[in-house]
Amino acid sequence: MSAVTTKTSEETILDEQSTLRLTFALPGESLSGQTKKDEKTGALIVEREDEYKYKDWLPTWEPTFYKPLEFFEHVDRGTNANPSFINLFPPQKLKNDQIKFRSISPKFGVEVTGDVQLSQLSDEAKNELSLYVAQKGVVVFRNQDLKDQSLDFNKKYGEYFGPLHIHQSTPAPKDYPEFHLVYRKVKKDESSYVFGDRLAGLDWHSDVSYELQPPGLTFLVLLDGPETGGDTCFANAEEAYERLSPKFKSLLEGLTCCHSGFEQSTAYKAQGTLLRRAPVAHNHPIVRTHPLTGKKSLYISGNFATHINGLKLEESNLILNFLKDFIKASNDLQIRANWENGTVVCWDNRRVLHSSTVDWDNAEVARHLYRITPQAEKPF
Ligand SMILES: [Fe+2]
Repeated sequence: MSAVTTKTSEETILDEQSTLRLTFALPGESLSGQTKKDEKTGALIVEREDEYKYKDWLPTWEPTFYKPLEFFEHVDRGTNANPSFINLFPPQKLKNDQIKFRSISPKFGVEVTGDVQLSQLSDEAKNELSLYVAQKGVVVFRNQDLKDQSLDFNKKYGEYFGPLHIHQSTPAPKDYPEFHLVYRKVKKDESSYVFGDRLAGLDWHSDVSYELQPPGLTFLVLLDGPETGGDTCFANAEEAYERLSPKFKSLLEGLTCCHSGFEQSTAYKAQGTLLRRAPVAHNHPIVRTHPLTGKKSLYISGNFATHINGLKLEESNLILNFLKDFIKASNDLQIRANWENGTVVCWDNRRVLHSSTVDWDNAEVARHLYRITPQAEKPF
């Protein structure tokens, strides 16, 4: 990785002699040559000349630095859900075959098609959605119109489930820092930011796990993208935990792992982005319990999970690498969610890990998605 000279809002300078190897693969966007500074506001912006329908959702970094996140009591909306899901999937519609389900794998993940419009759900149905996604891990909804609702609508929609997470460094639409954006423009070597210095792009993680209260139910909404490519891969962290032997499970019980946002912050900073918040690190249990289902899952989040507390360096590396490798190798606890116009993928960041797939660098159109990321409880 070449040396980087950049100056950020925090006045941090990496000089020409510094060699910074970015071990953190940036999932959202490569910025070189596509951002412009708005001289009036100081914001970094991405512009498009064409008649693009979703210009309001184009990436910006505004020079606003936020306070650290504060603890809040979280009660999952799924706590009040009707476990028969009669509001989310009304029996009459099921009877008339107006809603169809396809299991993506026998263990987890389901695709829902037909007469379900997320934007139109009642509060009761939203409560059920939270429980349903907790049970299924991943739910792929097709033909959704969330992307055609206003940014305000999407913000209020997400806030129903919890305070929306403002990312420390990834781009967001102007005036809406609560949305995390994925944006890749059409460029032949667009994937070189990943494969320039490594062979594989997989990074099984749970979003922003370094926060005190990382997200639970999470929405990723496609605005525009190529016909094929960019699948989101998911791994079932409950199944991963269940497969461990009783003796290994008991070794992990009670251990906590440090999840750090510092490396991600450094990586974005090196690209010249404006950071929104000082990076943080938090300790979370390696085996966490889901507040709605009571099920346990492995909570070891890719590059965020740096070390296990109370173990020596080599011991910690051995266990973390073993767990990460085991999940990587287990295609029988993984699925892929593909994207088409109107797709919204909901997942529960508490019980599945995910990774992007970088295989679309010859695409004809830009790849553009937004994530709605309500924060949830402090992992326990
Ligand atoms: Fe992610």
